[in-house]
Amino acid sequence: MVLPVGAGGDLAARAPQDVLAEAAELLRDADDPGRPGAVQVLPRPLRTPARVLLAGVGAGDAAGWRAAGAAITAAARAGEALRVAAHDLHPDGVRAFAEAAWLAGYAFRAPGDADDPAQPYGDDTNPAEILLVGAPEAGLAEARATAAATALARDWVNMPSSVKNPEWLAGRFAAEAAGRPGLTARVLAGDELAGFGGILAVGGGSVSPPRLVELSWSPANATTHVVLVGKGITFDTGGISIKPVAAMTLMRKDMGGAAAVAAATLAAADLRLPVRVTTLLPLAENAVSGAAMRPGDVITHFDGTTSESTNTDAEGRLVLADALGYAAARLDPDVIVDLATLTGANAVALGKRTAALYSQDDELAAALEGAAAAAGEQVWRMPLPEDYVPYLRSDIADRFSAPAQGAGSVVAALYLREFVGDTAQWAHLDMSAPSWADAADGELTKGATGWGVRTLVRWLSAIA
Ligand code: BES
Ligand code: MN
Ligand code: ZN
Repeated sequence: MVLPVGAGGDLAARAPQDVLAEAAELLRDADDPGRPGAVQVLPRPLRTPARVLLAGVGAGDAAGWRAAGAAITAAARAGEALRVAAHDLHPDGVRAFAEAAWLAGYAFRAPGDADDPAQPYGDDTNPAEILLVGAPEAGLAEARATAAATALARDWVNMPSSVKNPEWLAGRFAAEAAGRPGLTARVLAGDELAGFGGILAVGGGSVSPPRLVELSWSPANATTHVVLVGKGITFDTGGISIKPVAAMTLMRKDMGGAAAVAAATLAAADLRLPVRVTTLLPLAENAVSGAAMRPGDVITHFDGTTSESTNTDAEGRLVLADALGYAAARLDPDVIVDLATLTGANAVALGKRTAALYSQDDELAAALEGAAAAAGEQVWRMPLPEDYVPYLRSDIADRFSAPAQGAGSVVAALYLREFVGDTAQWAHLDMSAPSWADAADGELTKGATGWGVRTLVRWLSAIA
């Protein structure tokens, strides 16, 4: 069930005089009650309404309403029906409020086995209804599609890798696409992956073989063709260059990029956005076995160039290389955007909330920065310095996958750039840090954040 947030209702009934008087009295002693996300609870036993929540919206901008939406869900009781006085609220505020109210109520419990992929989205924790009294409907449909897609992405990322192997995840993507008119899914497996040397090398060490999923949303009125690419490592042990215990524990989240771009594509179809979107999801488990690739192996990618796999833990860029090369050679895109939980260096440079954005194209970078700011997700643009390019050079192949010099997130971006060609605009988002939250905060619940879905949906809407 998706938490219902509705608009409309009778403005006169929103706040009777006696309620306003009591609220004013309560607020007199409250500590900064207008602060975004602050909530004061006014109990009114034996009277109607029985409980009043006074939520701060700060400056009344989208960020303020986002904080209020999350705080109201957190303060509400399960099954409670809430009427929110939201007179004259701008559609951007409606959208921010509703997205946050839905997402703050997200909850995940792992299914017992693979046949029971329950999607327990907030059923037990959410209020029954939130009615935005006096607010426009505008923004609610976008919020509903975006929040539902973000919740799906969180479900996929939270799912344990005992359930979530490449076949399972490809099946989930295909099943969600099948329920949406006009959205098609193609799943490549086995021999169909011939030529995708990076995907085969990374997936070759696992008993759960790799997949490549291609989603296509191609509305008749589209003029721009966007290709989205997402890293889909269903578990990253590091391979033969194995990770230590602490670094490996959370590596079921290593398909957060694939989850985000797939979910954003579903939302684009739900909202019938007039932009063509082709989404590539290379899915593989980076496992340790006698069949696993070795450090020093040379891999031939889809574009025919080769990589010396210096460290098998640099697996994400190998699967992305094939997908980017395929996009450039076969799909004739106008824009390529990839999302990947690519490096631990993302968090070293920018902390746990901010993705690293790379693009040579100022216009594309600004559009993504703007979409992220509107969505309440943080990005920071990073450089693509030409003088680090020589670090990629290998004696025995076209390049190293994991150069020993340079900044980790930056050289990974320079590596990916080699496969994009120069016909399309391209941006890369290293979102390994913000893909996961260590504790609940605002609209983020503990665990998977679904980072990127809200930014991508806004960006795709702006192109359309
Ligand atoms: N999946 C990891 C990156 C990662 C690290 C994501 C921490 C989330 C949290 C990626 O495959 C990886 O292992 N990257 C290496 C690259 C190195 C071997 C060049 C890294 O960041 O250490
Ligand atoms: Mn790795
Ligand atoms: Zn990885």
